[in-house]
Amino acid sequence: MFIFALVHLLFAPTSYAALYGFPDCTNGPLKNNIVCDTAKSPRERAQAVVSLFTIDELINRTANENPEIPRLGLSGYNWWSEALHGVATSPGVTFAPSGNFSFATSFPQPILLGAAFDDALVKEVATVISTETRAFNNFGFAGLDYFTPNINPFKDPRWGRGQETPGEDPFHISQYVLQLINGLQGGIDPPQFKIVASCKHLAAYDLELWQGIARFSFDAIVTTQDMSEFYLPPFQSCVRDAKVASVMCSYNEINGVPSCANSWLLQDLLRGEWGFDDNRWVTADCDAVDNIWRTHHFTSTPEEAAAIALKAGTDVGCARNGTAFARDLPAAFNQSMITRADLEEAVVKLYTSLVRLGYFDSPETQPFRQIDWSDVNVPSTQALAHRAAVEGVVLLKNDGILPLDRKFKRVALVGPWANATVQMQGNYHGIAPFLISPLQGAIDAGYEAIFEFGTAVTGNTTDGFSAATAAAQSADLVIFAGGIDELSIEREGQDRTEITWPGNQLELLTELERAGKPIVVLQFGGGQVDDSALKSNRKINAIVWGGYPGQSGGTALFDILTGKAAPAGRLPVTQYPAEYVNQVPMTDMSLRPSANNPGRTYQWYTGTPVFDFGHGLHFTTFSLMWQKRPQARYSISDFVSSIRRSKTPDLLTFDTLEVVVHNTGKVKSDFVTMLFVSGNAGPVPRPNRRLVSYARLHDIGPRSSAKAHLNITLGSLARADSQGNMWLFNGVYKVAVDTPGQLVHQFELVGSPVQISHFPQNPST
Ligand SMILES: *[C@@H]1O[C@H](CO)[C@@H](O)[C@H](O)[C@H]1NC(C)=O
Ligand SMILES: *[C@@H]1O[C@H](CO)[C@@H](O)[C@H](O)[C@H]1NC(C)=O
Ligand SMILES: *[C@@H]1O[C@H](CO)[C@@H](O)[C@H](O)[C@H]1NC(C)=O
Ligand SMILES: *[C@@H]1O[C@H](CO)[C@@H](O)[C@H](O)[C@H]1NC(C)=O
Ligand SMILES: *[C@@H]1O[C@H](CO)[C@@H](O)[C@H](O)[C@H]1NC(C)=O
Ligand SMILES: *[C@@H]1O[C@H](CO)[C@@H](O)[C@H](O)[C@H]1NC(C)=O
Ligand SMILES: *[C@@H]1O[C@H](CO)[C@@H](O)[C@H](O)[C@H]1NC(C)=O
Repeated sequence: MFIFALVHLLFAPTSYAALYGFPDCTNGPLKNNIVCDTAKSPRERAQAVVSLFTIDELINRTANENPEIPRLGLSGYNWWSEALHGVATSPGVTFAPSGNFSFATSFPQPILLGAAFDDALVKEVATVISTETRAFNNFGFAGLDYFTPNINPFKDPRWGRGQETPGEDPFHISQYVLQLINGLQGGIDPPQFKIVASCKHLAAYDLELWQGIARFSFDAIVTTQDMSEFYLPPFQSCVRDAKVASVMCSYNEINGVPSCANSWLLQDLLRGEWGFDDNRWVTADCDAVDNIWRTHHFTSTPEEAAAIALKAGTDVGCARNGTAFARDLPAAFNQSMITRADLEEAVVKLYTSLVRLGYFDSPETQPFRQIDWSDVNVPSTQALAHRAAVEGVVLLKNDGILPLDRKFKRVALVGPWANATVQMQGNYHGIAPFLISPLQGAIDAGYEAIFEFGTAVTGNTTDGFSAATAAAQSADLVIFAGGIDELSIEREGQDRTEITWPGNQLELLTELERAGKPIVVLQFGGGQVDDSALKSNRKINAIVWGGYPGQSGGTALFDILTGKAAPAGRLPVTQYPAEYVNQVPMTDMSLRPSANNPGRTYQWYTGTPVFDFGHGLHFTTFSLMWQKRPQARYSISDFVSSIRRSKTPDLLTFDTLEVVVHNTGKVKSDFVTMLFVSGNAGPVPRPNRRLVSYARLHDIGPRSSAKAHLNITLGSLARADSQGNMWLFNGVYKVAVDTPGQLVHQFELVGSPVQISHFPQNPST
């Protein structure tokens, strides 16, 4: 099928386009149909074409892979394309074997992009991704709908898919996703979508397979308070504020009801509360409709599962091998569980988004149809992929060895990541134009590099140890590149049971230490491993975390090691000590500490992290100064009338603080200004601190300053009551900039608490 399609592309491009061809509104069968009339509303246009579908054709639209309808001049269409950090191999995307469309820019994984804490950068990256996907679509290589991004907060360090997310903090993810969707869809709800994104996985999905408990049958028991404060804010931002056109419901149950059968989630909350209108659609995660009966046993027959999902608000069912929804809806229809009107409603939503993608418009009037291969992986996008990696890299430890002195000429590059290429892309990747390994990065930086693999990511073979030690002995410096990776430990469908460094890698490091050379550790992977041993070991001179840095990873890392660029990324997650995995089961969804839970994320963890959320060192020193500090006191009553008038009171500005960041050292550097609050306002227990604002300042020269404007919204100060309603509570608020806190200051919010949002109650909680 794949080969066949490509042969057609090479020799007869028009017939290949059958896979993703645009309908011909000038000469085709639909030319006089309202769907081709640009004066009509997108929904009217969608309704006009959907009303022509037979019941079978209608049902077939609810699978991700839609067969063609030659009678209407409609080619096949696949709703399932992926582009998590660049155009990605997926059922809806193919790469040509060579030449045009054989690769696309490969950006760092979201966990590293998140570490940059640079919202403007996120939008730039997303804009390139949407341009490249459009180019692929215009030539039949990809769809227009992307099951990206993954915005479930990375709550548990064991989660196999944490690498796909920007981190653990819901406020940070909310800001990230706002910019990401803006860049992907071509604006905030533009009349014409550039591409359609899908925020996933709604909701409370952060378990793959742990101690035999699988995501396909897991029932996430979540309190209303945690739902409102932690699990949902990224989705609210994506849906209500960024106006995403699609959302994916998740595999898990929430308090006994599978997400894709959950009308509280898909109707009351999504459409009712967040205004996800009938231009927009819900896809089930792949085979999640099937899971409703097969693994959740929520219904006794497949047709009941399909009917309940459709009625709850699932519009299209992604299927890995044709199962569910399109397979089971015919029986549901036959047994009168659903009507033609139910099916039309779902398909109209899908087609309304296709209309807004310009699918039925002529190429001349369609703004994105001219994008072609000359827009893919050009020098500016390569530079952006490189800059994104540099911005994300986090300097975890440095005894002063970094940036490296010029006296180091011969380096031993050792470890399972030392010559990493595809590994550096993490999961959901495409084909990169090139992949600069750490080894290549070292060579390009002018080092005489001796490469020794030494050991694999896991396992216990010591075969490579002696060669690695010999390399270390003959070098001026050892660079150990290790950590975990996607293929061996950290992946979709599998959670970790340990968060220790793999023992074989620690053993190799111990061997390498005997050579007596300075050692710099490059730590990779999205989930953290406990660095305690390396942190306290004086023979390990520095630790640099590079996540999954993408196509220019090796270059970016050596730019940092050599001082060509200065590190300013911050850990977007908490690095826990290894015993954390014995203190709380993955299945415990609660955030707050209790007898069986040490608390989750930096907000609630009661232990001492190895490296804190927000940790990140620099090559220079900074002194911070308030330019505009908080007032001593604010009165809640001053905000009440604007809260009453606003539809989104949480977005109202509380105050904008200003911090001057002065570079007191000798190296030009970026600085991420992070503002945290804590204090005695709101329900107990109270979080340790919460991120309420951040801004990345660029290129602050030695003895120069830059100013951060730190907007604080009412929503970021507010906290949820036990019903999930958000309130602005009176009390003392302590603000602090950075990790650990500086410019500590406090203010009082006086008056009676005021409610700023109402949370729709879940009948099954
Ligand atoms: C619907 O899809 C199934 C499976 O792909 C196919 O066998 C059938 O012919 C399709 N029906 C129509 C009307 O397209
Ligand atoms: C896909 O099909 C195979 C074989 O028909 C079956 O064993 C498997 O369970 C199916 N997978 C899913 C997720 O339904
Ligand atoms: C629906 O009912 C018709 C008529 O009874 C029957 O021919 C057909 O096989 C049924 N289809 C399904 C999927 O149950
Ligand atoms: C590849 O793309 C370029 C830029 O769009 C175009 O000029 C060239 O003709 C394409 N090559 C082929 C073989 O299609
Ligand atoms: C590094 O990896 C690349 C790509 O996998 C491979 O071609 C090359 O031979 C490797 N280099 C060494 C020194 O093993
Ligand atoms: C090495 O690992 C394998 C597989 O995990 C295990 O069966 C074996 O006992 C281990 N050998 C040693 C010496 O630890
Ligand atoms: C902060 O608020 C000011 C005024 O309230 C606004 O002009 C500015 O765009 C905001 N900045 C950010 C980053 O939201």
